[in-house]
Amino acid sequence: MKVQFTETVLRDANQSLIATRLPYAKFAPILSAMDRAGYYSLECWGGATFDSCLRYLDEDPWQRLRGIRAACPNTKLQMLLRGQNLLGYKHYPDDVVRMFVAKSVENGIDIIRIFDALNDMRNIEVAVDETLKRGAHASGALCFTTSPIHSLDAFVKVARQMADMGVQSICIKDMAGIMGPQEAYDLVKALKESVSLPIVVHTHNTTGLGPITLVKAVEAGADVIDTAISSFSGGTSQPATETLAYALGQMGYQVDLDDKVLKEINDYFKPIKDEDLKSGLLSPLVMGTETDALTYQVPGGMLSNLVAQLTAQKALGRLDEVLAEIPKVRADLGYPPLVTPMSQMVGVQATANVLAGQRYKNVSKEIKSYLRGEYGQAPGPVNPEVRKEILGDEAPITGRYADLLKPGFEAAKAEIGPLAQSDEDVLSYIAFPAQAEAFFQKRRERETHTYSYSIRRVDE
Ligand code: CO
Repeated sequence: MKVQFTETVLRDANQSLIATRLPYAKFAPILSAMDRAGYYSLECWGGATFDSCLRYLDEDPWQRLRGIRAACPNTKLQMLLRGQNLLGYKHYPDDVVRMFVAKSVENGIDIIRIFDALNDMRNIEVAVDETLKRGAHASGALCFTTSPIHSLDAFVKVARQMADMGVQSICIKDMAGIMGPQEAYDLVKALKESVSLPIVVHTHNTTGLGPITLVKAVEAGADVIDTAISSFSGGTSQPATETLAYALGQMGYQVDLDDKVLKEINDYFKPIKDEDLKSGLLSPLVMGTETDALTYQVPGGMLSNLVAQLTAQKALGRLDEVLAEIPKVRADLGYPPLVTPMSQMVGVQATANVLAGQRYKNVSKEIKSYLRGEYGQAPGPVNPEVRKEILGDEAPITGRYADLLKPGFEAAKAEIGPLAQSDEDVLSYIAFPAQAEAFFQKRRERETHTYSYSIRRVDE
């Protein structure tokens, strides 16, 4: 039996440990080694990388992707896509979703892992359809969570729906690292029996369950597992690549990773980790084993965001209260899985409930949209009192929300005008208008004043 590995250091490990602040220039020199390691794929784009490039790193995310593509001609490049939300926090019209997928593939993506935070399959069908049309691999991800309404049968049903759409693999996405080894075993087995597709397992080591869970998943027949090179593994990141390769190899599984290359990659990332620890970008808080997450179901990115948010508001001492409030907010909202964007929305709401000293005194516009049905169908019943308090008697949307949206690409193109130099720029602008516009302005200044420098950047 063969087991394959998706390396997450460039995306999820980066996102979960250092809030996605790894600049392209810092990892560019190791890309050719990563291309030689024997990975199934490199998860390197999507998720929060796109936002972070524009907002914090003064980088063109498309340029980053092209750079990785050029340096890694032999390895599949993978991205994470939030279905109809793309890389943002709201639904986009179908023409934008299709264009985004098309351009992602055109710029170098091979595998698009597509999920919907609510496991509402209407919200991934357009992205899946376009991925298939563009000849890329569509991986349908189901968000694992535990709640009174999330049963094994419910997950199998979601997987079947995805298989019917034509996805080429199914990913179990345990964004909170709360999936235990037995749950993983049972779920992988159930999926293997009901859909004849490769099964990919994604978890986080937040609670320390990660490696045991992955081993049991492989025993049940999982084909691919997500891991991070060891210096950027553990804690809210993924379990370590080398550790799993070693353990599974010893157990008799065929592992096609090159140990020497893995060591080269790890040696490269070690000093980066040390720097990040020294600067405080990497907090020891997210590196340990946090078994509270088994109760609170807090994903890696969410936990590090909460710590950052509360630290900024000089309220880190109230973290425990916020963590206790999260499951209550979640129950009120019909048990949405805590994955982006729901994790941020629930986290912000729980923080507001605690800091205001009164529940739902301040409610974000995203939570209001959620309650209206703009994110899709809530997995379970919403607390009617909470809904009434926030929305009054407003009727919920019952159809697919994106059907109500006007096409958006051409309008955005006209709006941003010549500042956008390509369709990719227009997509950046649609995804993160203010950040993209600021980035374009800076880019224009650079191009005017330091022409030779800008040429060098383009070739990186
Ligand atoms: Co993840």
